[in-house]
Amino acid sequence: MIFYFSGTGNSYYIAKKISEALNERLISIAECVREGKYEVILEKDEKIGFVYPVHACAPADIVIHFIRTVQFINYEHNYMYSVFNCAGTYEYTSRIIKETCEKREFEIGGFFKVLMPGNYVTVKKHLPEEKCKKYLAEADDHINEIVKAVQAKTYNYKKEKHSFLLSYGLHKLAALEKETKFDVGEKCKGCG
Ligand SMILES: Cc1cc2nc3c(=O)[nH]c(=O)nc-3n(C[C@H](O)[C@H](O)[C@H](O)COP(=O)(O)O)c2cc1C
Repeated sequence: MIFYFSGTGNSYYIAKKISEALNERLISIAECVREGKYEVILEKDEKIGFVYPVHACAPADIVIHFIRTVQFINYEHNYMYSVFNCAGTYEYTSRIIKETCEKREFEIGGFFKVLMPGNYVTVKKHLPEEKCKKYLAEADDHINEIVKAVQAKTYNYKKEKHSFLLSYGLHKLAALEKETKFDVGEKCKGCG
């Protein structure tokens, strides 16, 4: 079972590839949140994956909210893993997911990353086109490696050598940023 959140499709692309390769159910976190569906019945030995983007040096808030709220029925320490994607700045993302899971007494073992073009439209400095093309060209190979590691139920947490302060501090600061010049319609995913 793969839970994904995707603002503009990058995480969806990754989640869909993994779900097809592993023949796993694909579930939209945004839909669960919008419909208030937090109860999930697990099949025996079903793996649980979270695929999501980095938002301001940390997991997208909606993903943290979902992990804090979800109720797994029949949870028996099923293999759990995280796949984040971003344009290159991720700081303590894996640690934040790990700690969020541990607070729920979920044992999370696999931590994976895929680099993707940035979609942070309010940031002036965008990745050069060449780099975006490189990330896209390499993505499928990374996804295939992740599939193999998930199949093998890999445990690979490594303490990130990044600034804890930057991750929490920047994330909180970014949340204060207020954009006024856009509208959302019915298709809004509600990521906040
Ligand atoms: C609000 C916001 C904040 C972001 N912050 C970061 C960041 O801190 N570091 C980074 O490398 N990419 C950042 N990004 C870029 C996304 O993580 C990246 O483009 C990702 O692939 C988007 O996935 P999606 O299409 O599934 O939403 C941010 C994007 C948004 C919208």
